[in-house]
Amino acid sequence: MDASNKKRSAAKAAMKFIEPGMTVGVGTGSTVNFLIEMLPEIRNKINRVVSSSKASTSLLEAHGFTVSTLNEVGDYDIYIDGADESNKRLQLIKGGGGALTREKVLACAARRFICIIDDTKLVRMLGGFPLPIEVLPMAQAMIARHMLKMRGQPIWREGFITDNGNHILDIHDLQISNPLEMEARINKIPGVVTVGIFADQAADILLIGGDDGVKEIRT
Ligand code: 5RP
Repeated sequence: MDASNKKRSAAKAAMKFIEPGMTVGVGTGSTVNFLIEMLPEIRNKINRVVSSSKASTSLLEAHGFTVSTLNEVGDYDIYIDGADESNKRLQLIKGGGGALTREKVLACAARRFICIIDDTKLVRMLGGFPLPIEVLPMAQAMIARHMLKMRGQPIWREGFITDNGNHILDIHDLQISNPLEMEARINKIPGVVTVGIFADQAADILLIGGDDGVKEIRT
């Protein structure tokens, strides 16, 4: 099975966690796009939807959903999103699509965070995927110097502006043996908006699409 079909099957498996009357938070990326395409099938179960990016909002609207703001819904039921990497403790790297800040906010406000991935993304140690950091543009060079001191190789995602008007640095060559510690350390650098390590904000349930169906891991 190719990666797209694995992503699609993980997205389909997430649908069964949506119960009648729930408000659903929707992440960003190709895996979540499969979910958005399936959501109309259970439209009558869904109370409201909130979205982590302009791209997902547009797709949700194209499928007939009215997207609420997080301020309108408050704490809510379930957040479903993809990831770039996960370890077995359900700690993640996210932000390949550049939506990491709003994704972390939506994950934090949800009572349950379900992460959907294909099996190539399950890793022993985070860091093979370059770690995205959303940064204030004026602090970009300073933050890059900090990351060099932490033995990472920062590459500016040139030409990309986040939905919040900021820049992304992708940090290559990091071996993230202690995700919680590294998340806290990078978040302390002034000018960092969000680091793409979701360890303090790990997933509650991981659905992994593979050749033999969808495997579920819980924390
Ligand atoms: C976007 C993300 C995505 O969840 C992550 O990049 C995975 O994307 P895809 O589902 O396209 O593989 O964090 O900011």
